[in-house]
Amino acid sequence: MADSVDFRKRNTNTNVELEFDIEPRRDVLKLKRNVGLVSGVSFIIGSIIGSGIFISPTGVLSETGSVGLSLVVWAASGAISLLGALSYAELGTMIPRSGGEYAYLYDGMFPFIAYMYSWTRTIVLQPSGVAIICLTFASYMVTFFEYCGSPAPPEKIIACLAIDGTTHLRDGFKGSTNSPSKIALSFYDAMWAYDGWNTLNFLTEEIKNPNRNLPWSNYIGVPLVTIVYILTNISYIVVLSPQGLLDSSADWGKEMLGSAYVIMPIAVMFSTFGAANGLLYSSGRMVYAAAREGHLPEVLSYVHATLYTPLPSIALTGIIAILMTIPADIGSLVDFFSFAAWLFYGLTVACVVILRIRQPNAERPIKVFILFPIVFTLISIYLVIAPIIDDPRLEFLWAAIFIVGGFLFYFPFVVFKIDRGCFDYVTTFLQLVCQIAPSPYIPD
Ligand code: ARG
Repeated sequence: MADSVDFRKRNTNTNVELEFDIEPRRDVLKLKRNVGLVSGVSFIIGSIIGSGIFISPTGVLSETGSVGLSLVVWAASGAISLLGALSYAELGTMIPRSGGEYAYLYDGMFPFIAYMYSWTRTIVLQPSGVAIICLTFASYMVTFFEYCGSPAPPEKIIACLAIDGTTHLRDGFKGSTNSPSKIALSFYDAMWAYDGWNTLNFLTEEIKNPNRNLPWSNYIGVPLVTIVYILTNISYIVVLSPQGLLDSSADWGKEMLGSAYVIMPIAVMFSTFGAANGLLYSSGRMVYAAAREGHLPEVLSYVHATLYTPLPSIALTGIIAILMTIPADIGSLVDFFSFAAWLFYGLTVACVVILRIRQPNAERPIKVFILFPIVFTLISIYLVIAPIIDDPRLEFLWAAIFIVGGFLFYFPFVVFKIDRGCFDYVTTFLQLVCQIAPSPYIPD
């Protein structure tokens, strides 16, 4: 065990002596294991519940065409997320490194596929995800200020509950679509609301007793969110009527809460802020893990000397996200995000099966029923392919171009490692300014 790394002089390439204005230390700079079961469950729920439950119900209903089918899509999306979370429990306990999909694709497929993922996540998934969440945050903040300016007249919760009842649920499946691409797109919308079921896997190295707490956080967090989402959708439909839900001027909060409506934008702001936090937190860990393997610039794998957080990788994630927010339209961002996300979710879960074949005797603290990852992989193939065949959109082409773009950087920067000198200056400068130091992976 490398127990004597003196990070005062540790730009690994230049060996430049770095002076920090803190006590010199001789331990290894390693992320701390702070996350227990309760924080794990809270982290998952906080990351999942964000913008989607406020923006997706309309899209799911308009694409499926009926109340019945839209509720089926919401329930099925919860079940698919659970299949994913179960498969990730096996991967996360078998491969104890942080980085989520990155680590599993690295071991289960090839380092090159993991590189492509890290690139796609850094350039496409993280920024578009944060942009969607923060645009929703911003629009509700505007609502909040507008509301404070001109309070709406009080309306009546009880009357609403008494009058509406469950009439609209009885419309059932009338008008359901049978177009496979519309169904796939409705899943994109609903699955956006469930996205984040994989977040805890990004920080395995920071979980206490990960063999127990990682799987149990997944098993508890995802079903809880599913229940909340289904109830929320039923409530939207009962209160607003399906027509009201499709009509953007109708507002559940105004109907239900009357003059207490002001808590609605505040709740959305909290929820989106929490999800953005979870996404940045986990994304930072992925960038950190990829940089540690030499797939992204080395400085992105450095950790703050006293906070023990991967500061440079979190900062990079935030900066790209801000750039992406500028040209954004929420609907196309969701399609753009989902297409790329499902491509890699499918590949990652396929690793469960591949690793069972390639490493049949490896230690697996959790072993899931093999049909779970197989079904999940088949669903993800459908979700990626059906919309392209049935209704090709520009967003899918853009996502594909961005993904392939990673190829261009692979050979010069990763394989041939050109231009190290320039990176070294930047690394040294950032070490001095940000008080960061390398943090190699050291198994427990
Ligand atoms: N489900 C969240 C929402 O509805 C988005 C989660 C983004 N991804 C993540 N890994 N936290 O806004």
